[in-house]
Amino acid sequence: MEMGRLVYEGKAKSLYEHPEEDDLLVMEFRDDITAFDMEKVDRVEGKGVCNCLISARLFEVLEDEGVPTHYVDLVDERRMVVERLDMFKLEVICRNIATGSLVKRLPFEEGEELDPPIVEFDYKSDEYGDPMVNMDHIRALGLASEDEVERMRELTLRVNEVLSEFLEERGIILVDFKLEFGVNPDGEIVVGDEISPDTCRFWDAETRESLDKDIFREDKGDVLAGYLEAARRILEGDEEKLAMLPG
Ligand code: ADP
Ligand code: TMP
Ligand code: ASP
Repeated sequence: MEMGRLVYEGKAKSLYEHPEEDDLLVMEFRDDITAFDMEKVDRVEGKGVCNCLISARLFEVLEDEGVPTHYVDLVDERRMVVERLDMFKLEVICRNIATGSLVKRLPFEEGEELDPPIVEFDYKSDEYGDPMVNMDHIRALGLASEDEVERMRELTLRVNEVLSEFLEERGIILVDFKLEFGVNPDGEIVVGDEISPDTCRFWDAETRESLDKDIFREDKGDVLAGYLEAARRILEGDEEKLAMLPG
């Protein structure tokens, strides 16, 4: 596919105009990996491919269950066509098990089950370090309306149900994850960005070992091996995508 103009280059992905359709974009998953607001930066060859294929599969699973997403189609192993969204400057986090920043901020015990799950909203801003915000902050900053926040929360909990079940069948615990939402050209709020080991915590159901970015954040070993293991399990049964995995 011929690529249109580069619209945006982020920490891990690049967005290009679609060569024919104004309402679409091409999202490219690069091999760059960062953590702790760019304190840690590296490149992991093959990571972009894993994240692209995993995201594509999980978006398909969500669409099949009636959850609206921006996903349209794969172009190749590291590029996908998505709807152009007007993004909310919010990150919506959903937690099933207490770990990560939660146990640093509040008196939860590491590994404690959270039932019902906890949903948090963060202001998406590298400058401010993605701080947690409540409805008053969101309203005052004009980030979203009450109805929009309620819709994002509802969709996040539905994503959690669908993906927790899908992953459990593949020996993966969905510990927590981050979603981004936007408004599509039809005016609908849909799930955007990516759903991958960069934006979720995936634990092996038996060993509780990380198959996600925590391997990089905490120097726990071979990052690509973890991402590939997650990818093989998530893509099981999808021979076309499995064949595109590196190695
Ligand atoms: P960051 O911007 O945090 O460095 P990335 O490198 O992942 O992150 O860049 C992807 C960017 O694209 C993010 O800012 C995200 O909000 C934005 N984005 C994701 N999906 C869409 C979409 N469908 N339309 C427009 N922007 C999107
Ligand atoms: P946290 O425990 O560090 O707050 O992370 C919660 C979840 O959000 C975890 O699955 C990783 C994901 N996440 C992102 O996708 N982007 C981020 O910038 C951060 C800090 C976390
Ligand atoms: N994505 C964030 C960063 O690049 C933080 C993280 O995922 O740990 O700094």
